[in-house]
Amino acid sequence: MGNTIPKALVKQRKLSRKNITSNKLTSQSSLPSTSPEQPPRSSRTSSKDSTLSTVTSNPTADKPQFIWDNGRRFHNVASVAYVLPNDDAEVDRLNFQHYLIKWALDGNYQTPNETELKNGINVLDIGCGPGVWTLEMAHAFPNSDFHGIDISPVFPEAIRPANTHFQIGNAAEGLPFPDNYFDFVFQRLLLASYTLDNWKFVLKEIERVLKPSGWMEIVEINMAPGSSGPIYTEYLLAVNNGLKERGLDPYVATHLVDLVKNNVHVDPATIRTDYASLPWNWGGKMGDIGAYNVRHFFESLQPWQTKARGISDEEYAKNVSAIIEECGEHKAYNNIHFVVAQLPGPAEATPQQQIEINDG
Ligand SMILES: C[S@@+](CC[C@H](N)C(=O)[O-])C[C@H]1O[C@@H](n2cnc3c(N)ncnc32)[C@H](O)[C@@H]1O
Repeated sequence: MGNTIPKALVKQRKLSRKNITSNKLTSQSSLPSTSPEQPPRSSRTSSKDSTLSTVTSNPTADKPQFIWDNGRRFHNVASVAYVLPNDDAEVDRLNFQHYLIKWALDGNYQTPNETELKNGINVLDIGCGPGVWTLEMAHAFPNSDFHGIDISPVFPEAIRPANTHFQIGNAAEGLPFPDNYFDFVFQRLLLASYTLDNWKFVLKEIERVLKPSGWMEIVEINMAPGSSGPIYTEYLLAVNNGLKERGLDPYVATHLVDLVKNNVHVDPATIRTDYASLPWNWGGKMGDIGAYNVRHFFESLQPWQTKARGISDEEYAKNVSAIIEECGEHKAYNNIHFVVAQLPGPAEATPQQQIEINDG
């Protein structure tokens, strides 16, 4: 599948006028920390002696909470296909990536509900990861209440603003909230976890937990590389094929809007969709963050991809460095897409929604 038209040039212009302060990019001190377990470093030396080990953070639980593979820590939820790790290095990548996406999309959200956020509403962030979106939004809108759920406890559990609430939860098994509970549901970057059935189910769940007139915003990266050289193309397509083998759709971003329209009873007049381009190692400071993101993305997939390709860690690392160089030369990018839509108001609600409204 090809990528959609690049918006790289548009963003290139923005590179010069945007000014993201350097402390946002370098200081991790204000960001949430992950759980304390550290990887068994000795297993990082080579994919050949890659060890698979497990850790149970709750000693009373039968099942280990995490799986270790070649020095990286992963979730241990058997029913979830999610392929990325949940350790400190991945948390750092997600935090940097957050600022890149925020820059590319000109803000943390596209939904036209700023007044409601200011006045105070109930917001859910599905697959919140380290919670950087939730925390920034909670800080910007102190009258609103923010809930984040994730299969891995990488969000801040102890030190967090009073208007944030984080909990472990598998969205693919249902959102752990009552009907008609949220005014705004946000979900970003779940493509490496949801099968098509998961997508349909979670969208229905979003509809269930949203109040009438509630808004949903779904953001996904299109994994089809744009303007890429041969090595990045080959490596990314290998990842994409691996995702497809697991029943995941690396190109879901390009048909998100149809998924929403076909699975959620939304007001068609409110649907908005667009995309922006993320520059990988070109165009200035944001391109530098892009380079960091590409490097750490491939490093996060290293245990999987070295085995899949049958190559050593050393060869893989060499090729990842070559990918970064090549991305700069070719001005490579991937596009990040969003869809925003609103449920109908109480008057236009479905019969089932009417019953639920009447039941309170
Ligand atoms: C790529 S990260 C994105 C994190 C965050 N949304 C962001 O945009 O920075 C995907 C997150 O979704 C979580 N996740 C994956 N499958 C999930 C599921 N079925 N239910 C809840 N969270 C899930 C992962 O643990 C991970 O933290």
